[in-house]
Amino acid sequence: MIKPKLQMALDQNTLAEAVAIAHLAGPIVDIVEVGTILELQEGQQSIRVFRKMFPDKIIASDTKCADAGSTVAQNSKDAGADLMTVIDSATIATMKSAKSVLDGIQVELYTAWSWELAEQWKEIGIKQVIYHQSRDALLAGEVWGDKDLNIVKKFIELGFEISVTGGLDLNTIKLFEGVSVTTFIAGRAITGQDNPAKAAQDFQDEIRKYWP
Ligand code: 5RP
Repeated sequence: MIKPKLQMALDQNTLAEAVAIAHLAGPIVDIVEVGTILELQEGQQSIRVFRKMFPDKIIASDTKCADAGSTVAQNSKDAGADLMTVIDSATIATMKSAKSVLDGIQVELYTAWSWELAEQWKEIGIKQVIYHQSRDALLAGEVWGDKDLNIVKKFIELGFEISVTGGLDLNTIKLFEGVSVTTFIAGRAITGQDNPAKAAQDFQDEIRKYWP
């Protein structure tokens, strides 16, 4: 089984803060993500900065795009992003137009998806989804468990590459043992630590333990 990648979500309020963290932990992770919060604060300049800092890494733009798919995707691509998220409630037309300019379109799953829609995403060539526990759901007491695992497994059976995210910590990783997760996306469990480089390395070691 292929080792899942580790993606670091940078959801800081300022680019300076995000750059300082990325300088420490960026070299350890596989994918550097400009988080939604950072993009709303600093715009696409943040993608440009991380593309320059990490020319050989995958850069993800968590725009959660809901409309104007091709324009937003073109802007993300021009800034240097390899991956860009669209929200599950976006229309098929928006997803299709985003996909027409940037191949790495990922649908982020919240509450507006269905298996029928997933089939339509496949038909327009979308290969990647992000299974997401929202910050607010987690704060309201949601926890990772079997219901999540079953959904993740079914998306894999359908042929999607799946990323998993939302309040992940080291203890969450083992829940997915034996499952072909493509990427684990961690934000605060890396970026909020005193030593982000060590936190990122601990994640990589934990992933390696279950996907040797
Ligand atoms: C917020 C996000 C976050 O970037 C993602 O959930 C990872 O952050 P954390 O690990 O801190 O929950 O997509 O919308």
